[in-house]
Amino acid sequence: MSADPSPSQPRVGVWLIGARGSVATTVVAGCAAMTAGLHPPTGMVTETDLFHGAGLPALSSLVFGGHDTVDCPLPKRAEALAAGGVLPHSLPSAVAAELAAADREIRPGGPAPGDTRDSTGLIETFTADLRDFLHRHRLARAVVVNVASTEPAPTGSELPASSLYAAAALRAGCPYVNFTPSTGLHHPALQDLAVSRGLPFAGRDGKTGQTLLRSVLGPMFTQRALSVRAWSGTNLLGGGDGAALSDPAAAAAKNAGKERVLADTLDTVPEGDVHIDDVPALGDWKTAWDHIAFDGFLGTRMILQTTWQGCDSALAAPLVLDLARLLARAHEAGLSGPLGELGFYFKDPLGDGPAALGEQYAQLARFAERLRAPAPSEPRGLPGEGR
Ligand SMILES: NC(=O)c1ccc[n+]([C@@H]2O[C@H](COP(=O)([O-])OP(=O)(O)OC[C@H]3O[C@@H](n4cnc5c(N)ncnc54)[C@H](O)[C@@H]3O)[C@@H](O)[C@H]2O)c1
Repeated sequence: MSADPSPSQPRVGVWLIGARGSVATTVVAGCAAMTAGLHPPTGMVTETDLFHGAGLPALSSLVFGGHDTVDCPLPKRAEALAAGGVLPHSLPSAVAAELAAADREIRPGGPAPGDTRDSTGLIETFTADLRDFLHRHRLARAVVVNVASTEPAPTGSELPASSLYAAAALRAGCPYVNFTPSTGLHHPALQDLAVSRGLPFAGRDGKTGQTLLRSVLGPMFTQRALSVRAWSGTNLLGGGDGAALSDPAAAAAKNAGKERVLADTLDTVPEGDVHIDDVPALGDWKTAWDHIAFDGFLGTRMILQTTWQGCDSALAAPLVLDLARLLARAHEAGLSGPLGELGFYFKDPLGDGPAALGEQYAQLARFAERLRAPAPSEPRGLPGEGR
């Protein structure tokens, strides 16, 4: 459905925090592949009829850049993903120019080992990088999307890295998406700034596999008046995400979202935990197993087991592209604050919207309707100017 941008269609930036990671690389390669007509937009909800006429930026109008703390070139990262079967074998060479172009727009992130800059210095550098990106490419706007490694929840008052980037996004006048469970804009020190900047934001933690399934099955048990006694889950995954989540503190941040969906869709909180095991040999392939013990009529005991075997980055990348387009359009339409209507995309959505996928989809349809309303006239000047 995505049409080529007309010559007058403004270009839109997508600034990825964690720009050299698996998800980010799949986003850049995937967008180029769809734009070139090499692959259909499977998995992209914004390419379905739901968003017809909603004024979303065309995929071909997106310009990529970002921050990362490692320096592996994006084309090389794409080759590694192709070797692991995450990307189609021939894709890195077919979209080599687009990968190289995005690679040139990746700036050093932080804090890096031995970094002498304090929080203020890092925020200033990140903000300057964003403003430079907006101005050099004469972008109408840029959406900042956090796809960096999951951090443990902060314990003190110091801003974690994800919040430094979120603060920079606000300062540069950019809409913000937190696709991870990290703190990002959730830090108390950023709450006032988030509201006063008048920017739209969305999060947290993309809902791609086990939690997606839970948000469908939880309501099913409730609607059929079946009584769930225990719901236990185990995840086996490798890749950078598996390594990051082998830290129990980072895994705790992730598991909180997976468990919240059960508390929100079932009448009771069932027994059971979620475990994440790092299995490097699996690479980007995740196996998520859920074991659900429930009672039926006359107390008859039954079990449902589900096994989800997904390729994490292939599940996440279309959602990241959807969210970048939605936030860009929301910004253009003058929407601001937390976009709770985008709960469809997240494990731990902002606000107190529904947790059941069906209701979240209905809410997304209403959001699409809001976007179809005519946009207010563009403010003069480029985003981030004079702030
Ligand atoms: N299905 C999914 O893949 C899925 C779903 C929901 C959320 N997520 C989240 O998306 C994130 C990315 O996943 P991935 O598989 O691409 O992980 P990855 O390890 O491949 O990539 C993460 C990238 O972040 C970079 N990074 C780490 N600290 C940084 C910092 N301070 N500044 C800038 N960059 C930094 C790393 O160098 C790396 O390149 C994770 O937090 C993951 O939990 C993924």
